[in-house]
Amino acid sequence: MERTFIMLKPDAVQRGLIGAIIARFEGKGCKLVGMKLIQVDRTLAEQHYAEHRGKSFFEPTVAYIMSSPVVAMVWEGKNVVAIARELMGSTNPAVANPGSIRGSYGMDISRNVIHGSDSVASAEREIGLYFSPEQLLSYTKAGEDWLSE
Ligand code: PPS
Repeated sequence: MERTFIMLKPDAVQRGLIGAIIARFEGKGCKLVGMKLIQVDRTLAEQHYAEHRGKSFFEPTVAYIMSSPVVAMVWEGKNVVAIARELMGSTNPAVANPGSIRGSYGMDISRNVIHGSDSVASAEREIGLYFSPEQLLSYTKAGEDWLSE
């Protein structure tokens, strides 16, 4: 089953949006298999955004996710990488669909509430940065047989 890495960024934690955002994923049918509240240090932040090193937004983006605790999560489900991207909406909350998470809760690209892996390969890399294998749980969730044929 596919897995994706999701981070509730410092603004989501500070603004009290953790429960509301997790409810979107639960309501959709995604299964939570790992979660922790952490303070990201510079080494981890720079590894996370390594592909953007050299771009104008690299340093502000690294500083942003180090600025306060974040919630790191792994969600599981059929096509969950793409489904999570749809739930999140466009990178820039100013133009994100109003029904999406960023469209509902954000105003500006520099504070866009949530991060989600953009591919299965990125998900594997990002999950490996934030979680050890034993921190991810396999279990049967009530009702999961009712999500697809
Ligand atoms: S791009 O433009 O294709 O390289 O951007 P993308 O791969 O979608 O993600 C870039 C991450 O940097 C954050 N960020 C910005 N991106 C583009 N422009 C500006 N000005 C900017 N400021 C910050 C953006 O939110 C992406 O981080 P995540 O954590 O994936 O949201």
